Amino acid sequence: MREITKTASRLLPVQPSDMTDGRNGTPVTTTQDDLRARDKTLIESLIEALPEATIALGSADRIICVNRAALTLFPALRPGDLLARVLRAPDVLDTVKRVRATGTRQSATWIERLPVERVFEVHAAPIAARGLEGSIIVNLHDLSEARRVERMRADFIANASHELRTPLSSLLGFIETLQGPARDDESARIRFLGIMRDQARRMARLIDDLLSLSRIEQNLHIRPQAPVDLALVLRHIVESLTPMAQDNNVTLVINAPGSVVVRGDYDELARIVENLVENAIKYGTPVAEHFKPEIHVTLGSKGHNAILSVRDFGPGIAAEHLPRLTERFYRVDNRQSREKGGTGLGLAIVKHILARHHGRLGIDSTLGEGSTFNIALPLHEG
Ligand SMILES: Nc1ncnc2c1ncn2[C@@H]1O[C@H](COP(=O)(O)OP(=O)(O)OP(=O)(O)O)[C@@H](O)[C@H]1O
Ligand SMILES: [Mg+2]
Repeated sequence: MREITKTASRLLPVQPSDMTDGRNGTPVTTTQDDLRARDKTLIESLIEALPEATIALGSADRIICVNRAALTLFPALRPGDLLARVLRAPDVLDTVKRVRATGTRQSATWIERLPVERVFEVHAAPIAARGLEGSIIVNLHDLSEARRVERMRADFIANASHELRTPLSSLLGFIETLQGPARDDESARIRFLGIMRDQARRMARLIDDLLSLSRIEQNLHIRPQAPVDLALVLRHIVESLTPMAQDNNVTLVINAPGSVVVRGDYDELARIVENLVENAIKYGTPVAEHFKPEIHVTLGSKGHNAILSVRDFGPGIAAEHLPRLTERFYRVDNRQSREKGGTGLGLAIVKHILARHHGRLGIDSTLGEGSTFNIALPLHEG
């Protein structure tokens, strides 16, 4: 131990600036504590090497030094201050108190509610080295991100199960009816089988969407490089969606040059265009008489990007929904989306495909006037 201390002090001589200012990258130390400078330097360099927020306390719970990670989270921490004065966290203070009472390592969970909820696992332990008696190391392990991911996973499973359970219950209901009361009813059988086929298709579609979402996620960091003509993609999608537009009495107005080549994957880019145009047809039907029953699909380029915009003149989307539209299963109107056979995964898939292609999505909408979905994709240059 003595040998290590010597080595450390040789490698890290104490500079006067180290003792006063930690905000320019150097760890901060107190000049008030009566620890030997060499021991302080050792603690400093040890805690600075740790990736997580760590605080070293002297005998009276006065801060000896804090590492950069701790300063980033809690800029008020200053060497020489009493911990209780600069960190209003009864759980942390209580943990330190228990270390003093027992002389052993103690842990606790600390939830900070404001300004945003953050969850930490607090670990505090006495430093058992000669000359450092009464000192304590407090480590704050940030669990906030892990908790957030866990909550998202739980929500996702709940949503996916719910989406599958609805058509499944309907299928089971019809099967029981066909086995029982409607056993000999020919016309009911034909009608029910039609509904059952639609429900089964909806479940199949949901599973397909979930699988493609996870496939895109797995390959998120592999950028597709093939040259793809977005004008050609657009022509194919418009052709396949024209019957749906006609059924909804809207006209697709296309404004596109002969060719706009981007780097990408043909099928995935087709998926983006399909979902945006399909959404415009499904949800962008004009509400007021004077609005044109049209959807404008415009393709062009700006700088190094291809720009595709899909504009509808429908009811629009309230501002509070816009940031959440690309979340899985998020819909402005759940019933309307389900009635139209939607899974609520379309824009989540669009977002993931765009991320893979280094593209961007922008949504502008005004209630009562309609919505415009813009995408930008890097052009295939050269
Ligand atoms: N052009 C639009 N006008 C108004 N609301 C829209 C428009 N596009 C999308 N939305 C809203 O955003 C929600 C999410 O769209 P998304 O494409 O992710 O799912 P979906 O269309 O419901 O299902 P899927 O795409 O699987 O068929 C829709 O349910 C709808 O409420
Ligand atoms: Mg959709």
